[in-house]
Amino acid sequence: VPSWQSVPGKNNMRILNYGSLNIDYVYDVEHFVRGEETIDSLKLEIFPGGKGLNQSIALARAGAAVSHLGMVGRDGAFLKELLDACGVGTSHISTGECITGHAIIQVDAHGQNCILLYGGANRQIPSSRIDDALKDFTSGELLLLQNETNRNKEIMEKAFAKGMAIALNPSPVNQSIFELPLETVSWLIFNEIEGEALTGETIPEKILEHLYALYPRCTTVLTLGNKGVICQNSGHFLHHGIYRQEIVDTTAAGDTFTGYFLAGISSGVSLTDALELASKASSMAVGKKGASSSIPCLAEVLAWNAVSVDK
Ligand code: RIB
Repeated sequence: VPSWQSVPGKNNMRILNYGSLNIDYVYDVEHFVRGEETIDSLKLEIFPGGKGLNQSIALARAGAAVSHLGMVGRDGAFLKELLDACGVGTSHISTGECITGHAIIQVDAHGQNCILLYGGANRQIPSSRIDDALKDFTSGELLLLQNETNRNKEIMEKAFAKGMAIALNPSPVNQSIFELPLETVSWLIFNEIEGEALTGETIPEKILEHLYALYPRCTTVLTLGNKGVICQNSGHFLHHGIYRQEIVDTTAAGDTFTGYFLAGISSGVSLTDALELASKASSMAVGKKGASSSIPCLAEVLAWNAVSVDK
């Protein structure tokens, strides 16, 4: 029995998640639209999303103490209400005179997705909101961020100067990642595309070795889709597989993994237990449509009679 099953939500290191809040327009398609092509979609559904919002919900559903820092426009009030209802702290979510960020997501017949983002309010967060939020946090607490917001370098430098630990999910990966103070990161959680962009390597072990040489104090966690996850800590590798599940929609499986993994870490469980729980939760998430709507709660994950898939 993982040691933290008895203490979800208790004695947790508090987490500040600086992250995006999106409205997701999800289109079912037979195949992803190609250049010069016009296609009909089969269905449109609108969901709350954003890597930031999804990860806050996953953290809260896993029992972590999380407060979200971000911004919406007036059209995004329901995103804040949802986070409230999920038990995420929302006092650091502001409303700007701009539109809420959104994502146009195509989901194909195999449940795979591709995503087009418009940053909107996520990219207009003022420095003063960062300073206000950081006043509520202190040394030893955790800052989580992804790459869908502005001022990421600024918040990392300020949080690190306060003695906070930093977890980064470098997604979506682009040139701006290389401007971040990556040496301040304690937990780096990413997928193969991001790993290749960060290191130029394609073999999972090589990606982790490359990052270990650059950032030896960082624990790196590389998710491999249906091949599970590989994690490096102090030069040692750990693997974990996925669990059998029908693939309906892979959107937010990575966010579910990140939230559950850090919830485990923040409550002091072993890396192995955190990887196991995060792998179960993300395997469950691919069986449901949507982003935040697919994230299971801890009781569901613990009750799931999961069958591991050996690769
Ligand atoms: O990781 C999935 C998320 O990426 C979606 O909810 C979308 O909003 C984008 O941020």
